[in-house]
Amino acid sequence: DWKISSFIEDAVEDIRRRVEDASVLCALSGGVDSSVAALLVHKAVGDRLTCIFVDHGLLRKNEADQVENVFKNRFNINFIRVDAADRFLSRLAGVADPEKKRKIIGEEFIRVFEEEARKLGKIDYLVQGTIYPDVIESGTGNAAVIKSHHNVGGLPVDIEFKGIIEPLRNLFKDEVRKVGRELGLPEEIVSRQPFPGPGLAVRVLGEVTREKLEILREADHIFREEIDKAGLSKDISQYFAILTGMKTVGVMGDERTYDYVVALRAVVTTDFMTAHWARIPYDVLERVSTRIVNEVKGVNRVVYDITTKPPATIEWE
Ligand code: XMP
Repeated sequence: DWKISSFIEDAVEDIRRRVEDASVLCALSGGVDSSVAALLVHKAVGDRLTCIFVDHGLLRKNEADQVENVFKNRFNINFIRVDAADRFLSRLAGVADPEKKRKIIGEEFIRVFEEEARKLGKIDYLVQGTIYPDVIESGTGNAAVIKSHHNVGGLPVDIEFKGIIEPLRNLFKDEVRKVGRELGLPEEIVSRQPFPGPGLAVRVLGEVTREKLEILREADHIFREEIDKAGLSKDISQYFAILTGMKTVGVMGDERTYDYVVALRAVVTTDFMTAHWARIPYDVLERVSTRIVNEVKGVNRVVYDITTKPPATIEWE
């Protein structure tokens, strides 16, 4: 695609001219936007770019390792992974309110990022994966605070720098993906589903604990695996598991159990503002349910969310 290649050439040229010999820092989340922004800047300035990846311990199974592998090993980018799971978990202890959880995670994220950035000394530029729809949303102020803090990268950071580099400002999401593909970003990141900044913390309903996160991670992994195996991943816009805080009675062998309910959410949508629940075939749902109950300790019941957005949202918190 010549339009994409010429976009890349121009963007790289612009970044090079602007940055010259200066240093650039990027907060990498592993999402499509920040990943593609980082790759573009890396193509332009190479080792003068450093990426900080804050692993808050709230990512899906294997996700943090995958991000590290791609950026550090495959692209040879200066990559700092901060394992901050303990910090996030201890700040989240005892907190059940969704808005409070989001706020805590956002603040802690910025704090960890700042601490790491300060260790690096002087920073001249910050990279942000802002894309065109973000520009519009914040411009008209209609990012209505239904949920605070949709964008971790958008929070103010207290470090000094000369300017911000936003190479994707004029692109739509599908164009960002094309640029990513052209730059050699692996498909698992290029076609990654939207994932909330606060991560699995908003999919463990109520208080977040290490144990609950572990249960959710395994259940979610099984769901995603079965959807992939059934060849449905391209037809469903977003699909994931939720760990409800609810426990119900069940029976396993001769034993009565009292364990968690896992909910499955899968939606079809073009804009994520409205969404239908996905018509997943019953036999696929059955496989997912059987596997989760058999393989994930602590779960004895699986339910499927059949609510449209609106009135429900896609996430449960
Ligand atoms: P809701 O739940 O409001 O979600 O229907 C709409 C879309 O936004 C995603 N989402 C987030 N994305 N940071 C993000 O970057 C967040 O805090 C956040 N919360 C929800 C959600 O996954 C869905 O795709």
